[in-house]
This record gives sequence, structure tokens and C-alpha cells, in this order.
Amino acid sequence: MDKIILGNWKSNPSTIQAAIKLAEGVDGVVFRTDHPPIVAVAPPNIFLWAVKEVMEGVALAAQDVFWEDVGAYTGAISWRQLRAMGVTYVIIGHSERRNYFTETDAMCNRKIRAVLHADMAPVLCVGEPMRRGKTERWIKGFVKKQLISSLSGITEMKQQHKLIVAYEPVWAIGNENSDTPEDAVEMILYIKEVLVTLGLSNDILTLYGGSVNSLNIEQFLFHECIGGALVGGASLKLGEFRKIIEKTAQLEKL
Ligand code: PGA
Repeated sequence: MDKIILGNWKSNPSTIQAAIKLAEGVDGVVFRTDHPPIVAVAPPNIFLWAVKEVMEGVALAAQDVFWEDVGAYTGAISWRQLRAMGVTYVIIGHSERRNYFTETDAMCNRKIRAVLHADMAPVLCVGEPMRRGKTERWIKGFVKKQLISSLSGITEMKQQHKLIVAYEPVWAIGNENSDTPEDAVEMILYIKEVLVTLGLSNDILTLYGGSVNSLNIEQFLFHECIGGALVGGASLKLGEFRKIIEKTAQLEKL
């Protein structure tokens, strides 16, 4: 199955011109790559339209969503608006949303349902806030609880196979300190086990995120259970993102 590389631009860049330039660059890389992986970028909502206009081979993703349809919800972007914009993937429950905007598992659950209902693919982010001083049991218990609460009732939805889960240990985000591939694999296999106990398929796509770059991408994606990567900082540097895309394409040829 094709791996997926999802770039999360967060609140970057600061101008529409810079966003268009980056999107054009990513699209060019995908066109020049032999058998590229699936590539998607999640720009800030305010740039979605402009970015979409210049991309042909890159899918559009959103960084968040509101679960209601249309109406009086100041500041919120609804699933219907994202769908109308042509968004394919929607990141849900990113640790920055949880930390700065007090997003809860219950809110993630509503968002996942809305996104599945709209036939888009939700990318649920889970991961422990810290590892040092914590037992394996505590870490797995933390992630399990996030999965159980966020995915409640999902097995009743016919679009459940569209769900994607990204394992993002929070301590590994935004620094040079990624998880080890061995530990990431162990957690991702555990996540798959939990998904199966919840009644979901073992084939649900699972990604790794947290300081992924062009030097470590292969070590993660080499493992079959890791279906792709959620890339933050490195997705803003075209040269880095290009290498990530090219190395993933190489891996898929093996
Ligand atoms: P990072 O971000 O690649 O900069 O660590 C990943 C993420 O926040 O999804």
C-alpha cells in the first residue's frame, strides 16, 4: 500500500505569497518523483483556497475542524466548508490543539464522526505527553484511553475504514528528538491491537509523527506497520520535504 506523507504547516507561513510558493514547490517535487507516495499538506485554513489552486498532485488537508454543519459558531470552520473546499484529510486532536485550545477526547470524537460522515479521512493524533520517569504500562494506558474515548461509536459508521491514526509522542514534537523507530513500532503495533479490540480493522492506516526529517524518515517508514509520516517543521523547508518524499518513493520500490 502507498505510504502517505502529510505535511502539517501549523501557523506557517506568515503570508499568502509564501504559502503559494511552498505549495508550488511541493507540487513540483511530486511531479518530478517516480512513483511518489501520497503527499498531502495542511496549510492554515486562511490559505486553503490559494494553496489548492496551485496543486495538482498533492492532496489538501486541514489542521482542525468543527463538528457542526453551518450556523452561529464564531471563528469555527465546519466540516461542510472543508469538504466544499476539496479537503481530503483532516488532522484531529493534535497535541497543540489539546494543549493550547483545551481540546478533549470527547471533542475529538465529535470531530471524527463529522469528518467520516462527510467522507473525508480523519487523522487522529494520539501520544503520551512525556516518557521519562513513566512506565511502559502508564504510556500504553495513556494512549489506550485516548483511543477508546476518541473512537467511541466509530465502528457503527460505514466510513470507519477511512480513519487514520497518527502516533505522535508529544515530547518528540518540534525538536531534534524523535522517538526511536523500535519504540515507535512497538507503540504503533499496540495501537493496532487496541483498534482491533475496539472492533476496527487491523488495516487502519497508522502514521508516526514527531521530529521526522530527511535523515530519519527511512528508519520509520521501512517498517510495514508505519503507513506514513506526519511531518511538521521539515514540511516547511522545501529541500527537506523533497528528500522525505524522494526517500519514501525509493523505499516503496524495495
Ligand atoms: P514536527 O511536528 O515534525 O515539527 O515534530 C510534527 C507534528 O506536530 O505533527
